[in-house]
Amino acid sequence: MTTFWSTWICVLTIGSLIGLTWLLIGTRKGETKGSVDQTMGHSFDGIEEYDNPLPQWWFMLFAGTLVFAVGYLILYPGLGNWKGILPGYEDGWTGVHEWEKEMDKADARFGPIFAKFAAMPVEDVAKDPQALKMGGRLFASNCAVCHGSDAKGAFGFPNLADSDWRWGGDADTIKTTIMGGRMAAMPAWGEMLGDAGVKNVAAYVRHELAGLPLPADSSADLQAGQQTFSTMCIACHGPNGHGTEAMGAPNLTHPAGFIYGTSLAQLQQTIRHGRQGHMPAQNELLGNDKVQLLAAYVYSLSHGVGTERLQAEGKNE
Ligand code: HEC
Ligand code: HEC
Repeated sequence: MTTFWSTWICVLTIGSLIGLTWLLIGTRKGETKGSVDQTMGHSFDGIEEYDNPLPQWWFMLFAGTLVFAVGYLILYPGLGNWKGILPGYEDGWTGVHEWEKEMDKADARFGPIFAKFAAMPVEDVAKDPQALKMGGRLFASNCAVCHGSDAKGAFGFPNLADSDWRWGGDADTIKTTIMGGRMAAMPAWGEMLGDAGVKNVAAYVRHELAGLPLPADSSADLQAGQQTFSTMCIACHGPNGHGTEAMGAPNLTHPAGFIYGTSLAQLQQTIRHGRQGHMPAQNELLGNDKVQLLAAYVYSLSHGVGTERLQAEGKNE
């Protein structure tokens, strides 16, 4: 606050307090002591105005609020830039100090736990029930909006609980994905291939790669589609359509892993206009230790390290 506004507020507040005190004392002085039920001589429709003193309790209450106001304004921030004489309000009335204290407490409590898990390999963290519980909570609040609360994905968002991976499903790659985010780039082929070209290669992907049926009246040229695929698509999706994890190019022989749909119309849409799936980086937002727990949680979903499996493994050892 500038000095001008600070002064302005002080003058206004202190002025009001003085004014109110003066009013209170002023009205008190004018009272005619001892005489009760004296009328002012006014009468409205038979209702007379009495000149009684202020009730004692009312006067004391008013005086009390004035004293309280003065005390408050001395102790706490309230008067312009005045910080109050009590410690802890250097920044004025904010929750910052309470927040910082809470955070310090949380760090003191969870810091060592985070540090312990951060020093372990993700695969081992994924076997710790406490870590999975913490990871699950982090997932619910940071990831479920896109990947779903069961991590099974939605249109445009991959299922993280299955064995299909666009960028790779080993523990370290999952962690790299979450830390740094991913930007997929499937080019648009509409202009280069033309409408018939798009339809042919879409039918090829659906029938020959994904193994799904085509409508009986399909006029698509699968031969031409294969030709297109082997010239335009294998650089990323691989000669057999199994995909390339380094580029996030998905395996096109697993229809369950498609995130943009497997109908001919959806495939044509994808091929004609391209797709740019974006997984946002979490390193700045959550930091290494939390991402470690998230990676372990995500890893556990698809790698059968659920508790039953864990117990079974424990018995076999
Ligand atoms: C804004 C939406 C969004 C949020 C929030 C989000 N993701 Fe993703 N995530 C995506 C998209 C989209 C992809 C797919 C990127 C692509 O097309 O390759 C993805 C991909 C992934 C992958 C790679 C999957 C694969 O098949 O390789 C992992 C692992 C992942 N996310 C984990 C997480 C975790 C853990 C969180 C929470 C910290 C999270 N995501 C939050 C949108 C999101
Ligand atoms: C430059 C590398 C690249 C080339 C070339 C390429 N793709 Fe892709 N393709 C990708 C990537 C990366 C994705 C994932 C996009 C995403 O996740 O948003 C993808 C996704 C797809 C999908 C969607 C799969 C799903 O999850 O729903 C289909 C279908 C597809 N490509 C078909 C093709 C066809 C057909 C061609 C050739 C005409 C082709 N791609 C050429 C990189 C490529």
